[in-house]
Amino acid sequence: MKNIKFDYKNSFDFLNEDDLKKYDEKIKEVHNMLHNKTGKGKEFLGWLNLPSNFDKDEFDRIKICSEKIKSDSEILLVIGVGGSYLGARAAINMLGSTFQECIDNKSNKNTKIYFAGNNLSTNYICDLIELIGERDFSINVISKSGTTTEPAIAFRIFREILEKKYGKENASKRIYVTTDKEKGALKNMSDKEGYETFVIPDDVGGRYSVLTAVGLLPICVAGYNIDDIMNGANDAMLRLNNDDIFENESYQYAICRNIFYKLGKSVELFATYEPKLNFFCEWCKQLFGESEGKEGKGIFPAAATYSTELHSIGQYIQEGKRIMFETVFEIEDICKKLVIPYDEDNLDGLNYLDGKDVEFVNKKSLQGTVVAHTDGGVPNLIIKIPEINEYYFGYLVYFFEKACAMSGYLLGVNPFDQPGVEEYKKNMFALSNKPGYEDRKEEIEKKIYRK
Ligand code: PA5
Repeated sequence: MKNIKFDYKNSFDFLNEDDLKKYDEKIKEVHNMLHNKTGKGKEFLGWLNLPSNFDKDEFDRIKICSEKIKSDSEILLVIGVGGSYLGARAAINMLGSTFQECIDNKSNKNTKIYFAGNNLSTNYICDLIELIGERDFSINVISKSGTTTEPAIAFRIFREILEKKYGKENASKRIYVTTDKEKGALKNMSDKEGYETFVIPDDVGGRYSVLTAVGLLPICVAGYNIDDIMNGANDAMLRLNNDDIFENESYQYAICRNIFYKLGKSVELFATYEPKLNFFCEWCKQLFGESEGKEGKGIFPAAATYSTELHSIGQYIQEGKRIMFETVFEIEDICKKLVIPYDEDNLDGLNYLDGKDVEFVNKKSLQGTVVAHTDGGVPNLIIKIPEINEYYFGYLVYFFEKACAMSGYLLGVNPFDQPGVEEYKKNMFALSNKPGYEDRKEEIEKKIYRK
């Protein structure tokens, strides 16, 4: 297997190897802190050894349940928000057809995965109900706390539909719950109704949970090889358990981010030239945004798909405020060939590309853009992925988790909590009359309506 490579050569106008070397001692210190579990958020480090230290019985049960779901459901509705859905969505987006949701089941035997519970849009839910229509479906509801409002509302709505369709008892055999092993509303409901349950380990936070049943069940149902994912993650775990900054590329990436941050680069743009990586970029946004954005610190994570966004925000990137750096995903072998045809008339002037692959142009676009943006004051870091498959998905997940933990510690924050997420929830509860939030309601209403 070729390795995923991290390349920071294009940033040599902004940093050099000597700058990295200055982090040597600090990296060793943080590496030990991480592996000896002595730093902030130390109770959430279960992800560190997850690729080898996971529940093998549960892993087998994921495969068994996937087979059942595939045999009795055209659709698996995955209900969850944040870390409870983005990992699965990233994998399915990366590994499947770009248009998988449009391919009907006659030509695509795989059970389709649809996502709900990540917004409160009536349109979204109604459209999804319409889309499911008369088709057979099952639900995988995922929530570590078991109490998050968005997935709870979606679950209530779709559970009712499921129960009306199949009757309460048969519906209960189509509900798969991924939650805490002993507490929370979802766990209580599962115990009462006899739903099949999977556990989110106590020491694995939501955004670090894709390699648990949170991600693996939907990914397996979608038809992808979860053994290969774990193998990729395991190889990353072994390779990145190394405090030598010139060998550990996830730490090199974390150092570059920290240097850029100190140079005033407060926005990181995850850029992909492959739409199959769109949701992987979304997953990265959450991972870094929730892990680092606190105490008035942190790099703001954003994402862009090129060429699409070279024609929207490209102008800003090239010449706007010099506040960003880019982390570019480059896929070395897309494993497909699409040749640009020769045209006798050549009215579009494209015959200079005759016989070349579309991917040849895409690569030239990447290389040209990296140079243009770097020359324009936006340093580029490149993650080179040999090809798209389950193994590299698993590797990438672990690479970024390790980099994020290191980066958060270099910044001096706890990379494993997300206290700020609670603020909007409290206001929403108060405004929607949740018992216990009465005092807050008056105060918030004054602000909304500027009384
Ligand atoms: O990373 C996290 O912990 C969060 O993004 C959670 O995954 C998200 O808020 C959903 O929480 P829960 O799984 O408790 O419903």
